[in-house]
Amino acid sequence: MLSKWPLVLPVCYLSAIILWITGSTGIYITNLNEACYNCLCYVSTKCDLSHDCTGGYCGPFNISRVYWVDAGMVVFPADDPERNHAWKDCARDYNCAKSIIEGYLIKFGRDCNGDGITNCFDYMMVNGNGGYGCTGNLNRSANGRRWLQRYTECRL
Ligand SMILES: *[C@@H]1O[C@H](CO)[C@@H](O)[C@H](O)[C@H]1NC(C)=O
Ligand SMILES: *[C@@H]1O[C@H](CO)[C@@H](O)[C@H](O)[C@H]1NC(C)=O
Repeated sequence: MLSKWPLVLPVCYLSAIILWITGSTGIYITNLNEACYNCLCYVSTKCDLSHDCTGGYCGPFNISRVYWVDAGMVVFPADDPERNHAWKDCARDYNCAKSIIEGYLIKFGRDCNGDGITNCFDYMMVNGNGGYGCTGNLNRSANGRRWLQRYTECRL
């Protein structure tokens, strides 16, 4: 039995190093990969990269100011969250918006549908239902049904 340890320990160190390299995302947000970002984007606006703001929802992920605040007020590196339109400028940029989504899902991401794994479907539910009560079936509303439909399209 003891002879196993020299093998087990390096594997542990290796995983720790991999987690360290991939940053906080790798630790807290499993399954939030590029394909999932693309899908969350598709579900929101069909990933319309030119989407500006409509009714207070901005960018390809259709992010609201409230969502942005809950996500931790992510803005461009040199920008100031207190600046009036800083949140919109970030939300309208695909990569900056991804950081907003990440912040929100670090805070609220969980197994919303209770199937035992936390994956992109759950993140879609978090965004669709809001982080404070993500468990409701999305098919209860027209908006939610549209999201479910689009989700099946982007997860082919
Ligand atoms: C953004 O979200 C709002 C609120 O759910 C919705 O009314 C609007 O249609 C969405 N915008 C786009 C471009 O999908
Ligand atoms: C929503 O889905 C659940 C389970 O998948 C089903 O039992 C329910 O009837 C559906 N509700 C609507 C409004 O489609």
